[in-house]
Amino acid sequence: MSTYNNQETQEIPLVKKFPKLKVLPHVNLINSPTPVEKMMRSSEILGGMNIWIKRDDLTNSKYGGNKLRKYEFVFPHIQKKNKKRILTVGGLGTNHGLANVIIANDFGIKTSLFLVDQPLTHHVRENLLCDYYYGADLNYSKDTKGAVYHILKDLVTDWSSYYLCVGASNSVGTIGFINAGLELAEQIKKGDIPEPDKIFIAVGSMGTVLGLFIGLELAGLKTKIMGISVLDENLNSTKKLQKLIRKTMNRLRKIDKSIPDVSKKLFERFSMNRSFFGGEYGRYTYEGLEAIEIARNDGIELDPVYTGKTFSALVDFCRNNPNAKNETILYWHSKSSVDLSSIYNNVNYKDLPKEFHQFFDGTVEIDDKAVHCIRKKKN
Ligand SMILES: Cc1ncc(COP(=O)(O)O)c(C=O)c1O
Repeated sequence: MSTYNNQETQEIPLVKKFPKLKVLPHVNLINSPTPVEKMMRSSEILGGMNIWIKRDDLTNSKYGGNKLRKYEFVFPHIQKKNKKRILTVGGLGTNHGLANVIIANDFGIKTSLFLVDQPLTHHVRENLLCDYYYGADLNYSKDTKGAVYHILKDLVTDWSSYYLCVGASNSVGTIGFINAGLELAEQIKKGDIPEPDKIFIAVGSMGTVLGLFIGLELAGLKTKIMGISVLDENLNSTKKLQKLIRKTMNRLRKIDKSIPDVSKKLFERFSMNRSFFGGEYGRYTYEGLEAIEIARNDGIELDPVYTGKTFSALVDFCRNNPNAKNETILYWHSKSSVDLSSIYNNVNYKDLPKEFHQFFDGTVEIDDKAVHCIRKKKN
């Protein structure tokens, strides 16, 4: 049984704004609102900027980051369908997969992860060890085709399973970030932060950025969203984005017709930049590694796969735009900062299913080579 309760649903920004949405299954998983703080040192290092951070790394004390916002809606939705096992997919080091198994345990739901190749790094190893520790059923599928095959096979044989798409970016999970956009609007209203001119945020499966867009639009803010993709276009295309926004708006408007359909305004506010991901999901970039060093001056730990690249785009913007000094820039910190080292340091990789041993015993080498993301800009 879940250890969470949903007493606070009427208090969440989304339901305060649209009370009819209280019928949406929701559970309180987030320490909200997550703090907004000025990044004093980074602002100074970059030449007198006005850079702020939204601390979504602190969403939950077991595992923070952006996923928890989606799960506030996804898990009760799955529970309502009476499903007992989640089948989901991701890279070998998927943060979504790990966050999923940690939270699913509290709901008495099992997690099967179907994992596909990405460059092998220490972080990938750590997440695999933690997945195992938290009880995930680990399956190595090599590539997406293999993962889909296994998932379909499982779904037809086990009716109590629920397929959760990569990154939990379905029309239910996305609602969590609509709520996040409205949460930020409340913080602006309270005077915790000036209205940002720009938000820099990592984009993978797109639910995070899309929900944020809808939330800001519904709140009537003017902030532009700078989405920094960590994937190739075939994995998070504009077409997929448009499909997701249509489905999400439909889901909400079925409950409350008065909610404006904001899908048409998407590209007035949001731009997707693919210049900073280094040409391959999970590949480190020199600019991302430099960004990690800059943010450390504010005591903020970024990762090389999502948030380092996002912050490197922010650094690039500050360095190359004479007007940047006049703007309020918000960096959305989407990764967990919970320290799991006492877990992964105490798991023996030999306890994992055999097909994963190759990622620890030297058969597959650590691949933390960095590339210049500028190389991709030329393509
Ligand atoms: C740390 C981090 N930031 C950002 C994202 C991107 O979120 P989304 O998949 O909703 O685009 C992810 C996705 O896994 C992530 O792990």
